[in-house]
Amino acid sequence: MTHKGHPGHRDWDDETTWAKERLLEPALVPVTEALLDAVRIRPGERLLDLACGLGQTAAAATARGADALGIDLSRNRTAAARERFPGTRFEAADASTPPAGPWDAVVCRFGAHHLPEGWAQAIHAVLASGGRLAIAEWPPKDERDEQNGMRPAGHWQTKLGETGYQEVRVDRVPTRLAGPARQDPEIKEKLTDFGPGLEDRECLIISAWKR
Ligand SMILES: C[S@@+](CC[C@H](N)C(=O)[O-])C[C@H]1O[C@@H](n2cnc3c(N)ncnc32)[C@H](O)[C@@H]1O
Repeated sequence: MTHKGHPGHRDWDDETTWAKERLLEPALVPVTEALLDAVRIRPGERLLDLACGLGQTAAAATARGADALGIDLSRNRTAAARERFPGTRFEAADASTPPAGPWDAVVCRFGAHHLPEGWAQAIHAVLASGGRLAIAEWPPKDERDEQNGMRPAGHWQTKLGETGYQEVRVDRVPTRLAGPARQDPEIKEKLTDFGPGLEDRECLIISAWKR
């Protein structure tokens, strides 16, 4: 199944893509933890992980004691996530029609640039009053530009601000490839394409809250 919608759309059920994503997981732990810190998740709170993919972020929220649900458009991905992380709930759903809230926190790791235009409004509607949103995105190589759907920090700040989110802020998290991912030529090519190099890759954490 191929989901179109932005210049970098791809087949989300492709097994090679899954294998690459799993290879990247160790390098993405700091990103996941930064997202959960940004929404200040606390035990017992309800957290929605948008475009959850193979489930790493929702599972990390469960590990912090949150009541987490991961949603993704791909049924195969949510089925795989369920199998990998049986202690966390996963459902197939489109992020533009999210499950009813109120959600205390919503996170989205490297998914926002794939989502339909109205996703930020749809999430605002299901967030609790005082609820928090945080997304992780790679910046494009040239921060003033757009690249394969990747947008500069200012794009996300404006989008969330115009949607009614409060105190939109941007933080940057350094990432470092570890283990077999360092040897994978395709991962290397992809990451160098988006940034200055593998060793000093920084991603954006854009966070805000609902009044
Ligand atoms: C780059 S992957 C990121 C997956 C995961 N968040 C991670 O960090 O590994 C993008 C994900 O967005 C999902 N996706 C694309 N369009 C979607 C939509 N409209 N609603 C929900 N998920 C969507 C894809 O199926 C894919 O799992």
